[in-house]
Amino acid sequence: EQIHKGKYEHYMQKEIHEQPESLTTTMRGRLIRGGSCKAKTVLLGGLKDHLKTIRRSRRIIFIGCGTSYNAALAARPILEELSGIPVTMEIASDLLDRQGPIYREDTAVFVSQSGETADTLNALEYALENGALCVGITNTVGSAIARKTHCGVHINAGAEIGVASTKAYTSQIVVMAMLALAIGGDAVSSQARREAIIESLFELPRALKVKEVALMHSEGILAGEMKHGPLALVDENLPIFVIATHDACFSKQQSVIQQLHARKGRLIVMCSKGDAASVTVGGSCRVIEVPQVEDCLQPVINIVPLQLLAYHLTVLRGFNVDQPRNLAKSVTTE
Ligand code: G6P
Repeated sequence: EQIHKGKYEHYMQKEIHEQPESLTTTMRGRLIRGGSCKAKTVLLGGLKDHLKTIRRSRRIIFIGCGTSYNAALAARPILEELSGIPVTMEIASDLLDRQGPIYREDTAVFVSQSGETADTLNALEYALENGALCVGITNTVGSAIARKTHCGVHINAGAEIGVASTKAYTSQIVVMAMLALAIGGDAVSSQARREAIIESLFELPRALKVKEVALMHSEGILAGEMKHGPLALVDENLPIFVIATHDACFSKQQSVIQQLHARKGRLIVMCSKGDAASVTVGGSCRVIEVPQVEDCLQPVINIVPLQLLAYHLTVLRGFNVDQPRNLAKSVTTE
């Protein structure tokens, strides 16, 4: 089927703006609000025969490449919190290079938009040989990873043409949040938390209408690592994009912002609506306010200004935004 750009100039731009719809499709039929006496719950049909085994695993390993690996990283806290099972992350090629140990008691989750990435596929063969339960999270029905895993969830984000993954990334995070809810089951201790997340998932497509921004290039560094090296680079010439939306680490982020202000870094701070005053203490900076949602879903919101930043920078520099040089949408060789 021919996919058109419609009113958009580029596929990446179209796919960024499509996210309220793609996320709605990802969640369709999977979130149950229930009546007054029926708790909110999640139904992932592709996993229903395997949930018990997943809950009994000693470890859940997420395996992927590129953006898919990063989506798993973003979802890791909620997976750990709701499953209560140790959750580890592996870049597929690195796992294979090390021949890292995988056991029968492990659940290995393969995250891949295309479902055809060679490194991820090879890691799947390796996990199958070692007897792990293998789960696929892909956007492509009938893909190699969807076929070879024991069970899985399709993200249903619709075809993604731009090489830089945008809407598949947010749908992957939402699927992994739903996976965390499904593994968490009906534990009474976390019922209120689960219901708040489900409510926030319903709200997500509305919260996603974030304004466009066109700013500067950035490179990701965890705030806790700043003092272990990167702080040495900060001066009045260094533009720094700080993500400081409101969560349990907000006060730590505030102190990092103050350290950056003290070193005269050129800050652009992304914060939750209403927090602008507290992030400008200690120096001036550009502020982007975004809607606040449940902490585990905040990455789905926060990524949008960054997607737009990447998009506009690339277009302004005159590069091909849908097909960056030297990169392929799907890397099917090692
Ligand atoms: C390629 C693409 C990336 C993508 C990665 C993994 O390198 O350029 O955008 O994240 O493959 O692809 P997958 O289809 O497995 O998610």
